[in-house]
Amino acid sequence: MQTKIEKISPLSALALNIIEEVPESAVDFLSFRERLSYANISRPDKRVEWIAARIAINKALDCISLPYPGFFKDENGKSHPMDGYGYVSLSHTKGIAAAIFHKEMPVGIDLDYIREKVVRLGPKFLDHSEMDFLNNCPELYTTAWSAKESIFKCQGKRGVSLKNNIILEEFSKEDKVIKGRIYGSEYSDHHYTVKVEKEKDVIMTYTIW
Ligand SMILES: CC(C)(COP(=O)(O)OP(=O)(O)OC[C@H]1O[C@@H](n2cnc3c(N)ncnc32)[C@H](O)[C@@H]1OP(=O)(O)O)[C@@H](O)C(=O)NCCC(=O)NCCS
Repeated sequence: MQTKIEKISPLSALALNIIEEVPESAVDFLSFRERLSYANISRPDKRVEWIAARIAINKALDCISLPYPGFFKDENGKSHPMDGYGYVSLSHTKGIAAAIFHKEMPVGIDLDYIREKVVRLGPKFLDHSEMDFLNNCPELYTTAWSAKESIFKCQGKRGVSLKNNIILEEFSKEDKVIKGRIYGSEYSDHHYTVKVEKEKDVIMTYTIW
């Protein structure tokens, strides 16, 4: 994937950040609390991923002319702006980080490498009806996993199971948008639209409105 910053609308933007070496000065924009969190991450690869996600959200905010407010995590691990305005979601994995912001609506974003083994893990996160149209295809399974993670992050509460509470409508490799729904939980009947982007062996999904 390539680094990008995209204004989705006047209210929303996303950024994808290829992870490179981070100079110490790169953390200057973080809030005091965030610098403490950052200092407590011991694994060097996780530190770099963590900061790359914050650099991505900083760039996304800049693109819609908003200052970086600092973010705190709630009891579920979901980040929220310290100033109480807007919604954010972050994802990071080996070599890449992404972030999305919306001024008014909850958002979710997820990045995943396409892996063969995801097909074997299918029964852990998919309903039978979904496996019927995914055809044992690693790309489609990764897309389904990622879309469910984006929906999960958008709603943000633990206790929502990817397998039992998030269901996707049938989609194929050509589809750039997937529909999904949360059911059978106290957050039931929320409908989601998820954008899919693929580059080489990486799938990125994010919720749109
Ligand atoms: C929390 C979870 C969504 C994180 O996803 P991940 O693929 O491990 O990691 P990502 O890099 O994509 O995302 C990490 C970011 O998610 C965000 N996050 C964590 N918990 C969250 C929550 N409850 N809601 C929204 N966002 C959350 C955080 O910002 C985190 O980044 P940070 O630690 O740097 O702040 C994931 O671990 C999870 O719990 N998934 C759903 C549960 C499930 O059913 N899993 C098993 C099925 S087999």
